[in-house]
Amino acid sequence: MHNRIAVVGSLNIDLVVELDRMPNPGETVFGSTLERHPGGKGLNQAVAAARLESDVHMLGAVGDDGSGDWLLDVVRREGIHSAGIAKAPGTSGTAVIEVDSNSENRIIVIPGANAMVNPTAVSDHLRSLDAVDVVLTQGEVPIDVMVAAAETGKKIGAQVVVNPAPVMDYPKELLKNVDVLVPNEHEAKELTGLSVDNMVDAVEAAQALQERGPTCVIITRGDKGAVWTSPEGSGQTAAFKVSAVDTVAAGDAFCGGLSAGLARGLGMAEALRWGSAAGALAATGRGAVPSLPSLAKVTDLLER
Ligand code: RIB
Repeated sequence: MHNRIAVVGSLNIDLVVELDRMPNPGETVFGSTLERHPGGKGLNQAVAAARLESDVHMLGAVGDDGSGDWLLDVVRREGIHSAGIAKAPGTSGTAVIEVDSNSENRIIVIPGANAMVNPTAVSDHLRSLDAVDVVLTQGEVPIDVMVAAAETGKKIGAQVVVNPAPVMDYPKELLKNVDVLVPNEHEAKELTGLSVDNMVDAVEAAQALQERGPTCVIITRGDKGAVWTSPEGSGQTAAFKVSAVDTVAAGDAFCGGLSAGLARGLGMAEALRWGSAAGALAATGRGAVPSLPSLAKVTDLLER
């Protein structure tokens, strides 16, 4: 293993509003703060893996606006290879995120440049990389880009990890090339129409997703842990106990941590613990990229 990961995904500017409670339709409420952070599921997952000291290549697109340069700066400062990030005419991806006093969040994403990622450029760039262990992608880039990433990932001998967020009608030609599918409980429910309210139901939902093509499925369930199913069997893993202040990007930290574990050659059970630890720690900090933990913090939690 070479501890090398290629992340094919979105880069967003996150506009984060903190407020006491979410407004009802037609209602106006006051927010307390407005902050601007780097984010996007792709960038968050790439940074999560890079902070766990994987060698990360990011493939995607930013706009030719000032925000695009700002996002590229973040990528480079995190030590992530940026040659696979194109500059597209127009605005960079943007997310409007509301976080209430219960740490619940709602997110609206305006894709911007993320919608312009080119599938052929992604395949060509992946093929040009040496010894990629994991190709990781998510639903904030066009589906044909995800299909190309998964197909090429398989061809170059990488493990393909897919985070099906946001939920869409993911086609068979994508799912058949997925080694590990990682939805959260809401996504699993929406994708299958099945309950994931308890562990037994969640395992059944994971198995239903597995029947669509992925070799393994992991459903993350926040502070209830995660369930998984693989050709060897099914099971659950407990969550690490932390005081959550903001769960934005906790799922991304899980995917980045899981992929970092797999890229180091860890077995699925141990890689899953890396994902759980990274996800738990991300929930203890505010913002997406700013909340992602270092290897030292993850190792410390794993050993506790
Ligand atoms: O998963 C969290 C991310 O979702 C945010 O950073 C936001 O950009 C949206 O993509």
